Amino acid sequence: MYKLKKVTNNTIYVGVNDRQKALFENLWPLPHGVSYNSYLILDEKTVLIDTVDICYSDIFFKKIEDALNGRPVDYLVVDHMEPDHAGSIRLLRQMYPEMQIVGNNKTHGMLEGYHGITDGLVEVKESDKLNIGSRELEFYMAPMVHWPEVMFTYDPKDKVLFSADAFGTYGTLDGGVIDSEMNVEHFWEEMIRYYANIVGKYGNPVQKALQKLGSIEVETICSTHGPVWREHLKQAVSIYDRLSRYEGEEGVVILYGSMYGHTEQMAEAIASSLADNGIKNIILHNASKSHASYILRDVFKYKGLIVGSPTYSNQLFPEIESALSKIETREIKNRLFAYFGSFTWAGAAVKRLAAFGEKMGWEVVGEPVEQKQGLKADKYEACLALGAAMAAQLKVKN
Ligand code: FEO
Repeated sequence: MYKLKKVTNNTIYVGVNDRQKALFENLWPLPHGVSYNSYLILDEKTVLIDTVDICYSDIFFKKIEDALNGRPVDYLVVDHMEPDHAGSIRLLRQMYPEMQIVGNNKTHGMLEGYHGITDGLVEVKESDKLNIGSRELEFYMAPMVHWPEVMFTYDPKDKVLFSADAFGTYGTLDGGVIDSEMNVEHFWEEMIRYYANIVGKYGNPVQKALQKLGSIEVETICSTHGPVWREHLKQAVSIYDRLSRYEGEEGVVILYGSMYGHTEQMAEAIASSLADNGIKNIILHNASKSHASYILRDVFKYKGLIVGSPTYSNQLFPEIESALSKIETREIKNRLFAYFGSFTWAGAAVKRLAAFGEKMGWEVVGEPVEQKQGLKADKYEACLALGAAMAAQLKVKN
C-alpha cells in the first residue's frame, strides 16, 4: 500500500513522523514535531537500521512489510538504544523471530535490560564488517555521541553513513525524505536546538567521531532524526563540528530574571549599549518566559553570555538557577561572560553569578553591575559600560 521513498536503489526509508508529542524526552518542546528514521537495505540479506518509538510501531511494521514484499528481516542493526529508536525491537523480534540483532557489547547489555533479549545476537567491534550479499556493512563505534553504545554503520558500496543521532534535528519530514527534495532552511535552527538540548554535553566524543569519519568516503548521511543529508551534507557536518568545538558566532545572549522589571531595565540598557557598539546579534531571554531549550540553543550559538538576576531568598532567582544548571551540565566552553544583578536589602545574586563564571572557567568581561532597588543614573551608566566592554571583547575574539 505504501509508496515508500528510496534513499538509494537498495535502501528504503521506513521511518515515521511524530506530530503528537509535545516534549521530546518529556523535556524539550516539539513545535514542529520530530521524525524517527529507520532504513531498510535490500540485498541478498535484508537489513533494517534501527527501529522507531513504540507509539509508532504499527505504521512502521506495515511499511517494513510492504518494503520486504514477503521476505523476512534477516538483520536488525542497532546503532542506538535510546527508546525513540529502540522502542519497537521486542515487537519486531516477535514478528521476525529468526532476525539477528547486530550491535556491540554495550548494545547487547541494554537489549537485555530493556527488552529481555539475550539470543540471536551478532556482536561487532570497531571496523568489523558484515557481508550481506553484494556489499559489506562496516561498523564504527561512536561512544557518547549521545549514549555509550552508539555506533555508526557504513555502506561502502553506496557511500551511505547511518549516523544514529549525529547530524539529527528536530522537525518532521513533510513529504520528502532527502534534503534535495525540500527547502531545508527551517531545519538549521532546529538542528542547533536539537544539538544543544540532546548532544550538547558530548562535544569531545562528537569531535572524535568526526575525525573517524575523515577516513571514509561519505556521500549520504542517514541520521535517526530529520532529513537525509546529501546536497547539504557539508553544512550539516559543519554545524555539528562548530557546535562540538563550542565555537560561538559574534553575538550575545542576555539571560535575565526579573520579578518587577528592575533587573530587566538593566538588561535593556546593556542590550542598547551592545547595539550602539556594533553587535547585531543580541538575544534577550527572560528566564521566566523562554523555555530552557531555546536558551541553550542560543548559548551554544553565540560567543557572549551576559546573565542578570535579582537576589531571591539570598539565592539566585530560581529560573536563572535552573537555566544555569542546564548550561553547566553541558560543560559549555569558551564563552565571554558578564553579569549583573539587583537586590532590595541584601545582595547575593551577583556574587553567585561570579562563582558560576569561575566554575565554568569562562573569561569574565567588564565590571559586574549590582543595583540596590530602583535603577539609578550611575548604575545605568555602568550597564552601558558593561555592554560596551562585551562588544569590544567580542570584536577582539572574532
Ligand atoms: Fe534520538 Fe539519543 O536518541
